[in-house]
Amino acid sequence: MDMAAERRVITVALGDRSYPVIVGPGVIDVAGKQVRRDGYEGKVVVVTQRAPKRFFGPRLTSSLRNAGLEPRFVLLPEGEKAKTWDRVSMLHDFFMGEGLDRWSPVIALGGGVVGDTAGFAAGTYMRGVPFYQVPTTLIAQVDSSVGGKAAVNHPRGKNVIGIFYQPKGVLIDTDTLATLPRRDLVAGLAEVIRYAAIADVRFYGWLERNLDGVLARDPARLTPMIRRCCALKAGLVEKDERDLTDIRALLNYGHTVGHAIEAAAGYGKWRHGEAVAAGMAVAARLAGIMGVLGSRSVARQISLLKRAGLPVTLRGVSTVKVLNCLKLDKKFRQGRMRFVLTEALGHATVFDGIDMGLVQRALTVP
Ligand SMILES: NC(=O)c1ccc[n+]([C@@H]2O[C@H](COP(=O)([O-])OP(=O)(O)OC[C@H]3O[C@@H](n4cnc5c(N)ncnc54)[C@H](O)[C@@H]3O)[C@@H](O)[C@H]2O)c1
Ligand SMILES: [Zn+2]
Repeated sequence: MDMAAERRVITVALGDRSYPVIVGPGVIDVAGKQVRRDGYEGKVVVVTQRAPKRFFGPRLTSSLRNAGLEPRFVLLPEGEKAKTWDRVSMLHDFFMGEGLDRWSPVIALGGGVVGDTAGFAAGTYMRGVPFYQVPTTLIAQVDSSVGGKAAVNHPRGKNVIGIFYQPKGVLIDTDTLATLPRRDLVAGLAEVIRYAAIADVRFYGWLERNLDGVLARDPARLTPMIRRCCALKAGLVEKDERDLTDIRALLNYGHTVGHAIEAAAGYGKWRHGEAVAAGMAVAARLAGIMGVLGSRSVARQISLLKRAGLPVTLRGVSTVKVLNCLKLDKKFRQGRMRFVLTEALGHATVFDGIDMGLVQRALTVP
């Protein structure tokens, strides 16, 4: 497939909430121009964390200053504990302290934790201020920064307190992946493989052929790959902005079992992407057992995940624990469950009423 022809700017077309997703090397350096072109001036709050601030703060600062904007940085702590109501409130205090008004932009510079927390704070401050995403992890670049979901955690559940709030722009600088720890890069690839598996068989073939270059972080491979993912996500979000039909739900491929693994192992033990990879391997096997997906396609899914260095089994997490976590899922009812399965590579469908006995078999296959 001609991945080189993938557009540099992808539009998420949502009427008056439409916005561009700009992907490529050096994009941070044009962030200031982009914000200025949208008509904003004066103070800009950059919500970030230690690592992205250290690596990319200086470049973002010059870019904003060169466009006549005045950046103010505010730091969030690491990990899920940053995604809390208290931190949102702290951000609101900072916005007030800086005298932000309804036309003052907020920029999230970092991974999904920063994007979610900053997006929630920006979307609720004065009923919403202009918000930009500058994602710097692979997960954030291919998934969390596009689509407008922003949520923080409640002590009793992940991502329970949230809003739909579309950004004004998503600025993806592929150079930022150079400093990302390998484990995070690989975990992000699980979401990439997911897009191909549910929506684009040609992209799947491209990934099979280009995986080594992607793992070596070859910019000529990363840029078209991320563009393709954003274009696919944009297409799904345009058809189902608020996740009301089965369309956006297809993105949950591998996630039902993935979430159960994350919970059964104890949060923080597995990276989200790793658990999703194992979840997709289980879903592929389940589709195989049900006769929905051919054995060659099952094998292709498992082999690409393995080659990427991702888990395709429960890796010691107890099957019983995973099953028990699945039974707490809202998609579980009377011994049966709803799953996104692939019927062919590049085609996913929601299946209802799948017998848990079959799920158990798919979980326990070697
Ligand atoms: N809103 C959505 O649609 C959506 C979708 C998927 C995931 N998420 C959320 O995203 C979060 C996970 O995001 P994540 O995987 O990006 O993790 P993360 O945001 O915790 O980032 C991982 C770590 O990498 C550091 N980092 C960021 N960029 C770096 C870089 N370029 N080089 C070196 N270090 C860097 C961060 O500071 C952090 O310590 C979860 O909370 C999840 O719920 C949201
Ligand atoms: Zn995910």
